[in-house]
Amino acid sequence: MNESTLELVMPAGHTLFARRFGTGAPIMLLHGFPLDSRIWHNQWTPLAQQGYEVIVPDLPGFGGSTVPRNEHGSLEDWAADLETLRQYCCGDRSMTLVGLSMGGYLALAYWKHWAKHIDQLVLTNTKPTIDSPEARQARLMMAEQVQSSSTWETVAPMLPRLLCEQTRQQAVATAQWLQAMMSAVPPATIATAQRAMAQREEFTQRLAKIAAPTLVITGDQDPLSPPADNQQWSQSLPHGQFEVIPHTGHLPMLENPEHFNKVLIHFLSHHN
Ligand code: MLT
Repeated sequence: MNESTLELVMPAGHTLFARRFGTGAPIMLLHGFPLDSRIWHNQWTPLAQQGYEVIVPDLPGFGGSTVPRNEHGSLEDWAADLETLRQYCCGDRSMTLVGLSMGGYLALAYWKHWAKHIDQLVLTNTKPTIDSPEARQARLMMAEQVQSSSTWETVAPMLPRLLCEQTRQQAVATAQWLQAMMSAVPPATIATAQRAMAQREEFTQRLAKIAAPTLVITGDQDPLSPPADNQQWSQSLPHGQFEVIPHTGHLPMLENPEHFNKVLIHFLSHHN
């Protein structure tokens, strides 16, 4: 299996780090907040073994990607970086785009401009709606708070919402690994990402225009994207499919990778 990393200088000057595995039809995996590309470590090898070229970026300022200038701080800006990466890796080939939570908001921002480059879409543990005024306010407060404390102090309250109780109790090493990943995100990136998410666009009314087959996934115990909500909005998709991963919270690709991979690969193999 081919395996490599790349560091691509973006037009705005920062560097985007990405991992690449395998050869075949391109599939790009977008991580959530406050995570990095390694959240997909249970997916990249099985997908490559299924005959995909798997491209897994660290989003701007996360993981091995450098922190962009302040002005490069919207999901639209980041979507443009993904298009630069797609062009570099795929040339004129289109791709399957998979977005986890914040990565799902970003996948929709990418779709807005480059729908023609998306063969299939997978929206996992995410939503097409904007924040309530309270949620927006909480994001802006976190963006302020992180500047005067540490990343971990700021994001620690998120951990119980990311992993379900069973994972937290039975997979202690996994929870510690996740904590280390979250703690490593630079404070400036926490602030930028929260402000970017706070100003994201509403997509609910546009779901009906998504022509690509779209898989919507969530965890049976995800408090951030509850199954009932996801099932409801997924019905607006012309070619939508909805799946719930048992025994998982907000991170089913980590908490129950076997089931997650089965659902993902089944969907991909029926639409290729
Ligand atoms: C994520 O997992 O990416 C975040 O929970 C998204 C959010 O804060 O809305």
